[in-house]
Amino acid sequence: MKHESLLLEKLWREAREARLSAHAPYSNFFVGASVLTLDDKIYTGCNVENASYGATVCAERIAIFKAVSEGHKKFKAVAVVTDAKGKAAPPCGMCLQVMSEFCSPDAEILLATPNRLERSYKLSELLPAIFTKDSL
Ligand code: THU
Repeated sequence: MKHESLLLEKLWREAREARLSAHAPYSNFFVGASVLTLDDKIYTGCNVENASYGATVCAERIAIFKAVSEGHKKFKAVAVVTDAKGKAAPPCGMCLQVMSEFCSPDAEILLATPNRLERSYKLSELLPAIFTKDSL
């Protein structure tokens, strides 16, 4: 659908913009992320590193937590922008786990660089066996 592909393009552009705010003086790996709510609102995040490395938070989780803290708990798409030698990268396992709390298995995960949308996966392709509240 045209409307949907324009929205996904906007999602990518906003993640690209958020990446510019990344605080990554230790890894120099700058990440921007954005999430699309069921009612088409976009929340963004960037990675925020810390001198105590374990206190670092990934871009995807910051975008998700910003949205959740403002009352949005369901997302239909996530975009991630990285630029490691011109290549996109998938989200880390902890971010996939957090996504699985708030996204359905068929949510779109867009992997992109600042220059292009590289490819898209369903969440279930990246995390096929999910630990959920039903596992508890
Ligand atoms: N990072 C993210 O922001 N998202 C991911 O899914 C993977 C890793 C960040 C964390 C850290 O600031 C840097 O990338 C290197 O791991």
